Amino acid sequence: MEGENEVELIGLVDRLEAEGILEKGEWIELLENYGEREREYAARKARKIADDIYGKDIYIRGLIEFTNYCKNDCFYCGIRRGNQKAERYRLSKEQILSCCESGWKLGFRTFVLQGGEDGYYADEWYEDVIQSIKELYPECAITLSIGERSKKSYERLYQAGAARYLLRHETANEEHYGKLHPKEMSLKNRKKCLMELKEIGYQTGCGFMVGSPFQSVETLAEDMMFIHQLKPHMVGIGPFIPHEDTPFAKEPQGNLSLTLFLLSLIRIMEKRVLLPATTALGTIDPNGRELGILAGANVIMPNLSPVNVRKKYMLYDNKICTGEEAAECRGCIDRRMESIGYEIVCVRGDYKEA
Ligand code: 5AD
Ligand code: FES
Repeated sequence: MEGENEVELIGLVDRLEAEGILEKGEWIELLENYGEREREYAARKARKIADDIYGKDIYIRGLIEFTNYCKNDCFYCGIRRGNQKAERYRLSKEQILSCCESGWKLGFRTFVLQGGEDGYYADEWYEDVIQSIKELYPECAITLSIGERSKKSYERLYQAGAARYLLRHETANEEHYGKLHPKEMSLKNRKKCLMELKEIGYQTGCGFMVGSPFQSVETLAEDMMFIHQLKPHMVGIGPFIPHEDTPFAKEPQGNLSLTLFLLSLIRIMEKRVLLPATTALGTIDPNGRELGILAGANVIMPNLSPVNVRKKYMLYDNKICTGEEAAECRGCIDRRMESIGYEIVCVRGDYKEA
């Protein structure tokens, strides 16, 4: 019986590769019953798919965490409005440009502006910053990760020169969404934003945390089906890690092997997708990011934020790289990728259309 079950599960991975989709019941069966054997099988397949499309190249994105003010109160997040212990900061345009300057010299050709949902900055400010970065570094891509906004605003920032947008959906299940967020937030609006971003022309990224409280194989099945439906250009997933000053302080962190398995399944399903081995993955295991690449990821997002604010952008406890200078991270990542036979490349690293 054991043996038969294994064959069936492997068959599901094969079917995902061939057809690019599984039914909900099949997702649940796979996620409920997989073992090391299936995980390794999926990782080999995923890595082969990524190698065939992107070769041994790993893309880097310079992450600039420009504000930790946030009007939202997500239960899992360390910079939630309700965390009075968080020491708040905002970077000025000049500080952001100086991050870009060091990033450019280190070979970064994508800058990710990430922040809490901070009402302090208006569209005009974003337009000015985006245009200035594009004038100074026309070869670089700008990615925004600044949460839910109106379609008008998304359009303006796209017109100003932002080409990509990251907005994790967090969970595709309504009820689960409600357990992770206060009631003024809704999955409906999240999905609406993602649709609008795609319509406007952004290379769009969704994603979720692995092992978030109340997650189940059912909600994960729905995440995979949502990703298949949305067809994003990027998918960001990493383990949930508790933050001590949030309502989820005592919840267990997400599991390494499940995160790796899901990375592989996402690669097998959405073959050309840009898939980061996240900082959270590197935080729960010293080799997390290398393992992520070997499971099918092809992007790393090192931190370019000024060192004096890094410890303040704490979404979760024990975040790595908060004491390092940008140059140290760049060198460290180079060596890590080389050690597993991959290479950081200094290009924009756009989504490769078929
Ligand atoms: N653990 C892991 N990831 C987290 N994020 C927020 N809080 C945590 C946490 N405690 C993720 C969310 C968000 C992204 C920027 O960081 O998925 O979308
Ligand atoms: Fe930052 Fe290794 S990536 S020190």
